[in-house]
Amino acid sequence: MRRKLVAGNWKMNGLTASLAEVEALIAAHPAPGCEVLLCPPATLISAMAARAAGRIAVGGQDCHMAAAGAHTGDISAAMLRDAGASHVILGHSERRADHAETNAMVRAKAEAALSEGLVALICVGETEAERDAGETLAVIGRQLAESTPDAATGANTVIAYEPVWAIGTGRTPTLEQIAEVHDFLRAELAARFGAEGAAFRLLYGGSVKPGNAKEIFATSNVDGALVGGASLKAADFGAIIAALAG
Ligand code: PGA
Repeated sequence: MRRKLVAGNWKMNGLTASLAEVEALIAAHPAPGCEVLLCPPATLISAMAARAAGRIAVGGQDCHMAAAGAHTGDISAAMLRDAGASHVILGHSERRADHAETNAMVRAKAEAALSEGLVALICVGETEAERDAGETLAVIGRQLAESTPDAATGANTVIAYEPVWAIGTGRTPTLEQIAEVHDFLRAELAARFGAEGAAFRLLYGGSVKPGNAKEIFATSNVDGALVGGASLKAADFGAIIAALAG
């Protein structure tokens, strides 16, 4: 059985005052049926982890592939763990676009994360031009194959399908399009990892809101969501968690 997971990605949003949202979230929505993860900017990980006190998980939004060294401005997997993170988002399309991250880099980062005992949340997704060209499954298959380490298991790795054109736009794929990609991801994982392929959680991300969460969660091979904008407000994120927890 795959445990449901709702992950929030605050991106480059949030100051110390924003931590009040975490208190509201935990107070309003204990959700024993599913796991809840919040990934704030690195500056807030330590304070958020202290407030969460294990009631929700806290994660980073990126890590460097090296363990330590002369990489000004970067953060290692060990540093995330030391700050209280248990997870890290890797290969988000904004990192792939803004920082020219390749599949090989994402894989190296995931290997670093796994070696520190962090759960790697690896993102894949096609651009609108790729979808229009009929390349969606080819692009996603390549991203999955090249970004996922051989050591990945259902326990240490989560895959998030995030169509680039659905992120922050209010547009979402049809449920059939989500199912097509998630069923494809499941089959690819089974082909590579055998029976273990059934254990990986597959999250959908891109304009998930309280109003569309329930139908997305009912879609084939969707085990939860990666939520950007709607994770910034406890009321919205709580409603999404409630939709998943049933
Ligand atoms: P969004 O972002 O929910 O604001 O569309 C999703 C994401 O980038 O993870």
